[in-house]
Amino acid sequence: MSESHAPTSGAMEGSNAKRGLWSSRLTFILAATGSAVGLGNIWKFPYITGENGGGAFVLVYLLCIAAIGLPIMMAEVLIGRRGGRSPVNSLREIASYDRLNPAWRMVGAVGVLAGFLILSFYSVIGGWAVSYVGTAASGQLTGQSAEAVSAIFSDLLADPMTLLMWHTLFMALVMLVVAKGVRAGLERAVSILMPALFLLLLTVVGYAMTTGEFGRAVTFLFQPDFSKLTTSGVLIALGHAFFTLSLGMAVMMAYGSYLPKNISIAKTSIAVCLIDTCVALLAGLAIFPIVFANGLEPGAGPGLIFQTLPLAFGQMPMGSLFGTLFFLLLIFAAWTSGISLLEPIVEWLEEQKGMNRTVSTLGAGFVCWALGIASILSLNLWADFTPLGSIDMLEGKTIFDLLDFFTANILLPLGGLLVAVFAGWVMSREAIEKELALSEPMFRLWYITVRFITPVAVGAVFVYNLFGA
Ligand code: PHE
Repeated sequence: MSESHAPTSGAMEGSNAKRGLWSSRLTFILAATGSAVGLGNIWKFPYITGENGGGAFVLVYLLCIAAIGLPIMMAEVLIGRRGGRSPVNSLREIASYDRLNPAWRMVGAVGVLAGFLILSFYSVIGGWAVSYVGTAASGQLTGQSAEAVSAIFSDLLADPMTLLMWHTLFMALVMLVVAKGVRAGLERAVSILMPALFLLLLTVVGYAMTTGEFGRAVTFLFQPDFSKLTTSGVLIALGHAFFTLSLGMAVMMAYGSYLPKNISIAKTSIAVCLIDTCVALLAGLAIFPIVFANGLEPGAGPGLIFQTLPLAFGQMPMGSLFGTLFFLLLIFAAWTSGISLLEPIVEWLEEQKGMNRTVSTLGAGFVCWALGIASILSLNLWADFTPLGSIDMLEGKTIFDLLDFFTANILLPLGGLLVAVFAGWVMSREAIEKELALSEPMFRLWYITVRFITPVAVGAVFVYNLFGA
């Protein structure tokens, strides 16, 4: 980000002219991608695809990205750029310019809460990746059987102290950057490490092609079998579209506030959605051939990538090196997402409670870390504790599962729905037209989508899942 752009392209009148802006369209794309591409793409997408039967689920997920995720991302970025401030204040600013109800800033509050809850378990998974750097580097994976690799993973989950150690380290990494201010350094780091992750993922896909089951994986991922799709699968696909694009919790609003005026919101948002989707699909293409070739279970759940990729690294030439690099990059991808999860609450504490940045980072980070302990224990000592198990759709869900379900499937779509309603029905149309600068037919398409399609689709999936089934 370069300060020199600020005076020429300040955000809405009255916003802080000293705020630096992204130095180019590419750096905004990289930073937004840094938030979007994370454990959601490489850890979560493959395992929920496996659990929900493959092709049909992937199709619904792709539809959700294109028809709901992309328009909402554009809405978030434009709200951020028009407000020119941190999310809650951007909404308040726009509300006061357009003489709207100041309660609209609560949209930001839903996001702040969601980010906080997500980070508590996200950091635990980030910790798994940290642990696997050591596992790969020490050569423990070389030549191992599928059973032995699975055992490494189950031993890790059974050991709360080790999990706590890695969770603590991951959380500390996130807090370190947030305490210093996110902007400095993020751009440069993301612009090197994201392409590196992409290349390594391609390397694993290359290996996966040699396993002989590549075709079966392609069929599994891309040939829809609608008999395998359930209504809860549709909710999960929708929720994951929000999760993977970092939507519904004001992250893109915050990043949009640094976007210079002359840059197209539509083009940049499309780029971010495309990159995010490519990474997820590549992860699927890397993992499923290995699953099938080794007789593993596609529906194995959250441990899927930790039981398949290490197996591949154990068998390929220079696997220890590639494996170490891969998990390092996975940590990095999770780290840039983790930072964007903690940032909104820290910003909010600073603004609303007047705390300084270090104190608010330490405070929020500590509570998040402590909450993470509940997720760690749900993997071992509390594995049978299902607090809301009496509710049908929450049956068998541990605290960890509940946090994941409640945030990704309820809070994020709710946040996104509110953003769509705000942009589609509340904000002034002229202001939006100016921000988006689209051709008339494209604008109309976007406007109809956020006004009607998104609210109806998200609302219908919600109502059906909560009351219908
Ligand atoms: N998009 C991130 C991922 O896929 C997770 C995330 C969700 C980050 C919401 C910020 C906000 O891993």
